[in-house]
Amino acid sequence: MSSFETHEYDVIVIGAGGAGLRAAIESVALGSKTAVITKSLLGKAHTVMAEGGIAAAMGNVYPEDNWEVHFRDTMRGGKMLNNWRMAQLHAQETPDRVWELEEWGAVFDRTGDGKISQRDFGGHRYARLAHVGDRTGLEMIRTLQQKAVADGIEVFMECSILKLLTNDDGSVCGALGYHRVSGEYVVFKAKAVVLATGGLGRSWKVTSNSWECTGDGHALAIWAGAELIDMEFIQFHPTGMVWPLSVKGLLVTEGVRGDGGTLRNSDGTRFMFNYVPEMFRAETADTEEEADRWYTDKKGARRTPDLLPRDEVARAINSEVKAGRGSPHGGVFLDIFSRRDPEYIKRRLPSMYHQFKQLAGVDITREAMEIGPTCHYAMGGVRVDPDTAESTVKGLFACGEVAGGMHGSNRLGGNSLGDLLVFGRRAGIGASQYASSCKEPSPQEGEIKSIVAEADKILTSTSGENPFDVLHSLQDTMNELVGIIRVERELVEAKDALAKLSDRARNLSAPGNKGYNTGWHHALDLRCQLTVAQCVTLAALERKESRGGHTRDDFPGPDKDHFGKVNLACSMASGEISVTETPLPEMPAELARLFEEAK
Ligand code: FUM
Repeated sequence: MSSFETHEYDVIVIGAGGAGLRAAIESVALGSKTAVITKSLLGKAHTVMAEGGIAAAMGNVYPEDNWEVHFRDTMRGGKMLNNWRMAQLHAQETPDRVWELEEWGAVFDRTGDGKISQRDFGGHRYARLAHVGDRTGLEMIRTLQQKAVADGIEVFMECSILKLLTNDDGSVCGALGYHRVSGEYVVFKAKAVVLATGGLGRSWKVTSNSWECTGDGHALAIWAGAELIDMEFIQFHPTGMVWPLSVKGLLVTEGVRGDGGTLRNSDGTRFMFNYVPEMFRAETADTEEEADRWYTDKKGARRTPDLLPRDEVARAINSEVKAGRGSPHGGVFLDIFSRRDPEYIKRRLPSMYHQFKQLAGVDITREAMEIGPTCHYAMGGVRVDPDTAESTVKGLFACGEVAGGMHGSNRLGGNSLGDLLVFGRRAGIGASQYASSCKEPSPQEGEIKSIVAEADKILTSTSGENPFDVLHSLQDTMNELVGIIRVERELVEAKDALAKLSDRARNLSAPGNKGYNTGWHHALDLRCQLTVAQCVTLAALERKESRGGHTRDDFPGPDKDHFGKVNLACSMASGEISVTETPLPEMPAELARLFEEAK
């Protein structure tokens, strides 16, 4: 066996965000020896950036809310491309996961009568986001981390995974990584591996994603033989900061609009009234007066168009800016001060208040924010069994953003944190049960040697390219050519550019010390980023329609009869990335009737 530092577990969980910690808590509770491996520090995962809340049909603010309405909202938000079973489990189980978090110590904001408070978000029929000001993700991670540590889960921090290891029958049996501090390699032997690595937004120039989000889990999975589905669907959150440039893309929570903020263009017009799609017309206000009434007296009133699903709002902002009605720094205006007093804003949105004050010199209790779309979330990911979170490869499980299917073509805001909890728990159970009956892990020495040789070459090469140059070209390519609005010519250009970047990435150089060599870290991340960027681009070329987080200028509408019935799946069975169509699983009649009833 290799001479590298080696550890052995029943279950390893890669990623220490909400999904990873929740998976590990469940796995250890079922008696599996479990470790969490994180690129970052415990408590600093990207989940902490989730601001607005956890969507859960608890009915605390609207007693008429229930899982069926949440399920229907989620499917409609995803333009019916979601895996119905995942959307069903999510809607049914999130309330229990929220109450469980509370039992474990999370301190949620309260309603007047002492229940967990729930706020409005786009695409949700009722106010249903359990929240902690605008720092919900932070509270969730604090709570899960405390529970994980108390339960004795072992954590490897600042440890990046380079490749999954396989038994000779192709099943997954661990992972090879390196300690970021020392650069030394480490082997994890494990009966089951849970991917909980989050998103991939760092391959776009303007993104709300933090540095870890380089698509590692997506790449590890496809390299190990798993399928990735729905990769063409990238969510651009409508409201990221646009100024100053140093923080361009930073998230401005949808909670601003949920709590009363409105979008305006440079003429001062509330332009969202001009962008209400047919699907949402019946329940969306036609006039400003009607929308304002909804904000004050919500019973029975139609919702404001500022809170349409994110894909609709992001496209509308994009159109306003293109039409020359943008703000000075290329966004539009988001105003909450006209409707809410300073005390309310500071209490409900403390992070937004400080973020704008400190980073942009804007006092949001007196001035409008300038905002614009930012790459926020990948709907696509590892194809999993909805109940067990098992991928199409034995021994490999996935949950959270790295898993596909739950959100279809567009995720509703607030449905991510619930997804992490529901499917994190299910992945922990699935992996633990699998580990209890599978054979002993037996990694192949050749696999370890070849990945180590590939990684070492970057350190010893003196004539290769600078990884930062390739990274910046990748980010420009994805931003310019595979952004909110896509067209065949540009997607083909992106495909060719990515092929060239992949060639350049085979010859990178980051010479010097192995310890905290950030050039080397980026070079290694680039392998993942390029694989994943190619999946997104190839799937985007293939989907010849517009739906959710995939808008084709050359195919402006949805194609109900063909593309509305298929997921696109990327795999590397032939060594190269290929894209195939697979039929959507059929929704049972008792769920399908929910959509008939809503008509
Ligand atoms: O806008 C937000 O607070 C983001 C939440 C989410 O992506 O679910």
